[in-house]
Amino acid sequence: MAESTIKILLIDDDYVLRKGCENLLAGAGYEVLSCRNPEEGMRLLRENDFDIAVTDYQMPVMNGIEFMRVLQRLSPQTDVIMITAYATIEMAVEAMRLGAFDYLQKPFQPDQLLETVRRVVQKRQVGKSGDHELKFDFDGKTMRIIGKSKAMQQIFQISHKVAPTNSTVLITGESGTGKEMIARAIHAFSHRKDKPFFAMDCGSLVETLFESELFGHVKGSFTGASETKHGTLELADQGTFFFDEIGNISLNVQAKILRAIQEKEIRRVGGTDTIRIDVRIIAATNQNIEEAIQNGQFREDLYYRLSVIPIHLPALRERPKDIPLLIDHFVSRYNQKRQKKPIKNVSEAAMNALLTYSWPGNVRELQNVIERAAVIEEGTTLTIKGLPEHMVQKEEKPSHTMISMAEMEKAHIANVLDSTNRNISQSAKILKIDRKTLYDKIRKYKL
Ligand SMILES: Nc1ncnc2c1ncn2[C@@H]1O[C@H](COP(=O)(O)OP(=O)(O)OP(=O)(O)O)[C@@H](O)[C@H]1O
Ligand SMILES: [Mg+2]
Repeated sequence: MAESTIKILLIDDDYVLRKGCENLLAGAGYEVLSCRNPEEGMRLLRENDFDIAVTDYQMPVMNGIEFMRVLQRLSPQTDVIMITAYATIEMAVEAMRLGAFDYLQKPFQPDQLLETVRRVVQKRQVGKSGDHELKFDFDGKTMRIIGKSKAMQQIFQISHKVAPTNSTVLITGESGTGKEMIARAIHAFSHRKDKPFFAMDCGSLVETLFESELFGHVKGSFTGASETKHGTLELADQGTFFFDEIGNISLNVQAKILRAIQEKEIRRVGGTDTIRIDVRIIAATNQNIEEAIQNGQFREDLYYRLSVIPIHLPALRERPKDIPLLIDHFVSRYNQKRQKKPIKNVSEAAMNALLTYSWPGNVRELQNVIERAAVIEEGTTLTIKGLPEHMVQKEEKPSHTMISMAEMEKAHIANVLDSTNRNISQSAKILKIDRKTLYDKIRKYKL
């Protein structure tokens, strides 16, 4: 998208400021229409399609929050940048909660305005192509799964493809890689989207309780069963049922789940009637199920039933390409909660630390690290001061030292593995090393 196709509405009653911004934006190649007050703004909004509205918070008749509300009705696709005086900063933050993209505090430098506009444009491009995220509505909220690595791109495609079917899906991956998010996306893209999505952590209850939770029980079937109870599988009828941590289920309950999937019916604990159920099953695990099968802890037949469509989420360290995007995503999310000025960039040293860390807790850990940094950081740049100590190397690095050779090698190998779908022969050929050396390096760097 050429920048000149971006259309901006500018509302401010301060003539000097308005003309200044108008010239600046027009000079940068944007198409700009400007006006003095929200009423004129509304008229222009009705007659034009704006990508961005830059508007003063404090205006006669209508303040920025009220303006946001009207704009969201009139032109929901327009992104808002709020201009605010110091006194109304809290309100501008409130406007961001309502969906404004960012705010600028007066007096601001021309560069700040251009930079903010550029970020909106960037965000819109990503959103438009849908390339680097999987976006869906769940529970009335918009969720975004971020990823441009080949592995994640393929997962986005598969999720779309399997969603309309009733096939069971088995999602594997380390803790925090986004298994539950993918399960929700599949539900959201399916015809079951307006029906329940039930998630059950299979390790959270002792066997008997788990069984009665899942299948329900009839009155008097055991001590304490004073009422007949519907099981969650029954309550999820016509919806999607997500078995989280399926590897924690006992062999006894595994048999019952297998029967429920095969027969499409269940029996309450202590009951004799069978109840028809129509649920789509998605399961997830961070354990090695094949190993559990070998050890006799998991039924092979259930495994085959569940893994009709297998989806493996790679660990974050295996897809370093996704890290900068995820940082952007979480930074803008926590900016909205921040009572201070939003974080606008990440220092080189902090980016290096974030890119080379091994992320044992995967995306969840990255999310927590960014949230913490957004709290600690006083300024608008995220620096290593905001990162947990164990992520930052002890020795003081000169500010423009790049990463070490080993770190570079590791990141490069991870990228090549990702681009070949972890095809070892192909990766070894690209890297011009033999397969054994590649295996050694994969082990060494825990890729
Ligand atoms: N690709 C992604 N883009 C954006 N957010 C993500 C992504 N992957 C994970 N997250 C976020 O990370 C957190 C963990 O995701 P999720 O609960 O889906 O992981 P999980 O694999 O089910 O983890 P666990 O095995 O620990 O249950 C969530 O808060 C989610 O919002
Ligand atoms: Mg989970």
